[in-house]
Parts: sequence; structure tokens; C-alpha cells
Amino acid sequence: MKVLVTGGAGFIGGNFVHHMVNKYPDYQIVNLDLLTYAGNLETLKPVEDKPNYKFVKGDIADEAFIMDLFEKEKFDVVVNFAAESHVDRSIEDPGIFVQTNVMGTRVLLDASRKFGVKRYHQVSTDEVYGDLPLDRPDLFFTENTPIHTSSPYSASKASADLFVLAYHRTFGTPVTVSRCSNNYGPYHFPEKLIPLMISRALADEELPVYGNGENVRDWLHVSDHCEAIDLIIHKGKVGEVYNIGGHNERTNLQVVQTILKALDKPESLIKYVKDRPGHDRRYAIDPTKIETELGWKPKYNFDTGIAQTIQWYLDNEDWWKHIISGEYQNYFAEMYKDRL
Ligand SMILES: NC(=O)c1ccc[n+]([C@@H]2O[C@H](COP(=O)([O-])OP(=O)(O)OC[C@H]3O[C@@H](n4cnc5c(N)ncnc54)[C@H](O)[C@@H]3O)[C@@H](O)[C@H]2O)c1
Repeated sequence: MKVLVTGGAGFIGGNFVHHMVNKYPDYQIVNLDLLTYAGNLETLKPVEDKPNYKFVKGDIADEAFIMDLFEKEKFDVVVNFAAESHVDRSIEDPGIFVQTNVMGTRVLLDASRKFGVKRYHQVSTDEVYGDLPLDRPDLFFTENTPIHTSSPYSASKASADLFVLAYHRTFGTPVTVSRCSNNYGPYHFPEKLIPLMISRALADEELPVYGNGENVRDWLHVSDHCEAIDLIIHKGKVGEVYNIGGHNERTNLQVVQTILKALDKPESLIKYVKDRPGHDRRYAIDPTKIETELGWKPKYNFDTGIAQTIQWYLDNEDWWKHIISGEYQNYFAEMYKDRL
């Protein structure tokens, strides 16, 4: 089986490539990534010499390039992680979010249709459901919660989801969609909350917390997300949406306090800063469907997962320090100069 993973040099895509290359030695895993600021080939070092792994640099929204690639490679399965993924960046520059997240998905769908891909899986987010009030802990997002977006990022992801589902209904394209809560774990780009706080706390720098820190996120360890996608592409029902989350709600402030405690740093490092415009209050997933239909269960809870993650950042300083210094961007030229 040949699997195309797009965005495999990013955080979740990179973890998924590791998972697939190691678990399925008889599959061919092709990682297609444009290597934007968020793409880091150093993440793929542990698998780059494996015979069942290949990296291709390119843009999912470049139609001619994608059609050529699909014609040549004859993929059985496509898993689309490639995206502009940072809400703050979408507030600064919404255009690239439409280009990559919406146009890129449309191009991949057309290529999947033309070349008879057996399964197209779209990696989506719980942010397509908007947010929940803080004073209603009884409410959760189900697959039937209406789409109701807040940021240009979530609007672009929701739009992509609708195209994916429309291609199934209109053309019979064999698609599945997963909508996951916030991920954390190894190889997370240090501009996102958890790695940002770990790296700054280690350097005794101020930890910026938006607003009053009361916004709630439902945290899932990235390896549990990868397991869920693996299950969906093998056993999930075509045309269906699956929510993924592990009931690990924490306020942003609780997350930061947990990190400070684990690193033995003082809470005086916390600095409250101006809130993000349109900041979603609470996300919380109801994962009943994937648990009952596919038998998925997360292996980590937040306490075990955050401890593993903090240890990983302590053990892998080179990886995140290269990002902060910008050095990671030289890796492609260095690594691939004799291979291209
Ligand atoms: N991070 C989360 O908590 C979370 C939660 C739910 C869903 N998701 C979704 O999971 C997916 C991956 O998220 P992430 O956090 O790993 O993102 P990321 O920003 O770490 O990685 C995105 C990757 O896509 C690549 N990319 C960007 N534009 C591209 C293009 N035009 N063509 C090819 N590659 C391109 C980047 O180089 C990068 O390697 C996204 O679709 C995101 O919406 C993320």
C-alpha cells in the first residue's frame, strides 16, 4: 500500500509519518511538504533512511505538480495534514489560509478523484465547531454540532471539510474526516502554547498568557491522535466524520502552572497579556463515536502526557533550539543537496 502524507514535516504529520513508517514496514510512505516556516525536516531524522520512506518537496495547491505526482506515484491512500495552522497568523494574513487550506484541499480531492485513490482522509479540527460557554461544562462537540467558526483559520478548515464531504456526496469520492482537539507532544513547533511555555520557562523568561488564562482547551497527546487516524483510514466508514478527544480539559493557566511546577520554576514568571481577538472560550470533544464504532481509546491522560512531553523537550534541546535560532531552515539544503 502506498500512502501520501501531506504536511509530514509539521508537528502532527511528522509524528504520523514516524508512526506509519515504523508500524507498517511493508507500506510505502511518501511525505509531501512545502517546508514553510512550520516544516522541519529535522523531525524526520529518525526515519529518513528507512527504505519505506520518501520525502518530496512541493505545494498541495500547485495543481500541475500534484497531478504529475499522483500520476507517477499511484497512491492508495492520502492523509492531508498540510495546512497553515496558527490562529494568530490567520488574524495577521488570512489569504494564505484560503490558498493552502481550501485551494490545496480542493486540488488534492481532484487528484484523488482522477487517479482513483481508495481513501482520502482530511485531518480537521474541533475549531470548526466554534466554542462553548465556560459555564456549561455539560456541553460537548459531537459530529452533529453545527459548524460555527470564529477565526480565519477555523473558517478555512471548515470550508475544506465541506468540500471533502461534498466530493463524497457529489462524486462518490471515498473520504473520511477527523476533527481533533488541541494536540501536544514531541516535535511541537515552539510558537504554540505548551512548547513555548516549556522553552521560555527553561530560560527563565516571562510566560505570556492571553487575557485571564481562563480559556479551556481539551488536550490530546499527539500519539493518540496518530493512532486514531491509523484506525480511521483502515476501519472508518467512508463519508463519515469522527471527533477525536480524550476528555482532558484544562484552562490555559492550569497548563502553564503545571509546566512551571514540573520544571521547579516560580509562578511570578507568568505575565498576562492582551487577549487574542475573537478568542474561543472552551473546546470540549465528545469522542463516543470513534470509541464505540472503532474501539479507539487514548493511552495518555494529561498528567502522564505532559510529563512525557516535558521530558522530551529536556532530552531534545537541539531540536527546538535549532528552530528558535532559525538553523532548522538550512537542513533541507544540507540533507538533500546530493539527493535531488
Ligand atoms: N495542532 C493541533 O493542535 C491540531 C489540532 C487539530 C487539528 N489540527 C490539524 O492538523 C494538521 C496538522 O497540524 P500541525 O499542528 O501539525 O501543523 P503544522 O503547522 O505544525 O504543520 C503544517 C505542515 O504543513 C506544511 N505545509 C503548509 N503549507 C503547505 C502547502 N501549501 N503544501 C504542502 N505543505 C504545506 C508545513 O510546511 C508544515 O510542515 C492541520 O491540518 C491542522 O489544522 C491541528
